[in-house]
Amino acid sequence: MTTKISICMGSSCFARGNAINLKTIEEYIAKNNLEAEIELGGIRCGGQCSEGPNIAINDVIYHEVDQGSLIDILDKHFKGEK
Ligand code: FES
Repeated sequence: MTTKISICMGSSCFARGNAINLKTIEEYIAKNNLEAEIELGGIRCGGQCSEGPNIAINDVIYHEVDQGSLIDILDKHFKGEK
C-alpha cells in the first residue's frame, strides 16, 4: 500500500518551512529507497496557516513541522519508530 504525503504549498506554509521540508522528504525517500511506497504531492492552503507548516501523511495532518520533527514523523511512519 502506498503512503500519501501531501505538503501544503500555500505561501505561508511554504515560506515558513515547507520549501526545505519538501527537499528533506525527497532526500529521505531517495536515501531509504521508498520511491515505490510513497506518493508525494502538494496541496493548496488548507486554511490552517497559523499552525503551519502543515504536512499530511495519509489522513493525519502534522502541524508546525520543522526539520527535527519531520525526520521523527517520517521514521515513525516508515521505520516504525516512536
Ligand atoms: S499556507 Fe498552509 S495552511 Fe495556509
